[in-house]
Amino acid sequence: MTEKPTINFGLEGVYVDESSVSLVDGQNGKLWYRGYAIEDLADKSNFEEVAYLLIYGKLPTRSELESFRSELAGKMSLPPEIVELIRTMSGKSHPMDVMRTAASMLSMYDADAMNRDRNATIDKILTLLAKLPLIASTTGRIRKGLQPINPDRNLSIPSNFLYTLTGKKPNDFDAKLIDLMFILHAEHSTNASTFSVLVTASTLADIYSAITTGIGTLRGPLHGGADEAALKMMYAIGDPENTEKYIEEALEGKKRIMGFGHRIYKVYDPRAKIVRRYLEEGLTREPSEEVETLLKIALRAEKLMIEKLGKTKGIWPNIDFFAGPLYRLLGIESEIFTPIFVSSRMAGWGAHILEYWNNNKLFRPLEYYSGPIGNKYVPIEER
Ligand code: CMC
Repeated sequence: MTEKPTINFGLEGVYVDESSVSLVDGQNGKLWYRGYAIEDLADKSNFEEVAYLLIYGKLPTRSELESFRSELAGKMSLPPEIVELIRTMSGKSHPMDVMRTAASMLSMYDADAMNRDRNATIDKILTLLAKLPLIASTTGRIRKGLQPINPDRNLSIPSNFLYTLTGKKPNDFDAKLIDLMFILHAEHSTNASTFSVLVTASTLADIYSAITTGIGTLRGPLHGGADEAALKMMYAIGDPENTEKYIEEALEGKKRIMGFGHRIYKVYDPRAKIVRRYLEEGLTREPSEEVETLLKIALRAEKLMIEKLGKTKGIWPNIDFFAGPLYRLLGIESEIFTPIFVSSRMAGWGAHILEYWNNNKLFRPLEYYSGPIGNKYVPIEER
């Protein structure tokens, strides 16, 4: 047997790719998409422009953005069988299971699914960008016993998501809030789901297979599912006065506090700061007793966690912590939070697939075998 090598569990600290899609600076709490600071994009840009930036590597001109939007608008519809699938699964499956199954089913409508040419790949990315949010919103409606709503092609992807979920055209501020969440979730370098997307893509499988892999990976509470889990914790705390007791007891019981900690950020996640800022502004514009209570709990939990684990262990709030209260301000139920993450992260997944296929190399890492060798085979009747 070979000498035991150093094993980087969870690939911690291992470089697996070179990329120009985004940079996460975990020591300084900075994030750039294609060199643009996340704060600028959050305040000044919009999701479709950001998706274009990620996919094409540059900001669009006005006419490029217009034709990008009209291509997306042309793809904004769901085949009736997918709506039927959502009905079949609704009430029995979590919306993330519906997303994963429906994304896989989309390959059925693409006769050229295995075509990996750049233009064909971009076309498939746009198809998924236009349809995944509709799958999320239609799932949200059907699970409440409501009829699906036809998209309004004059609305942006995030506004359409909100419209086809709630049945109401969003006002300007709500449109900004949902657009913001789509921008902030669009990309984050080689996180678990993007890595899993690339592992599947590296086998030269079709893009639907790669995205289905990514959705499965994003579902877990250590990754995308943390937004839903963090809100559930806030509801479990219930009264702001219970916050410290709840957190102390959870930590004593070695439980993780969802919405805190990050593999790369060892300081405050810059996306969480932005979500908190917009959430606070949102509450002054659209007061909500429920969200005010959630914010009080969140701020007390944040203070205690920073005191206990922030400075000592580098565990700070991440994007998922304040996301839940902000989504509640928009009236979105918690099971739809991670499907929003999917809909938005599709832009980053697509950008990474395009980049990786330029210089594809099959992912095949090593594992150190520590089991026995040379066991004697015993026939089943003698065991
Ligand atoms: N609450 C309490 N303790 C924590 C937490 C937390 N949220 N996060 C990490 N720790 C502790 C952990 O128990 C361990 O302690 P010890 O050294 O005593 O065993 C130490 O910190 C290191 O934890 P790790 O899991 O080895 O570190 P990691 O870099 O793999 O952790 C993480 C990253 C995101 C899995 C982890 O911080 C976590 O579980 N957070 C909660 C889930 C969460 O909010 N996920 C969303 C991440 S951001 C958005 C996204 O990627 O989707």
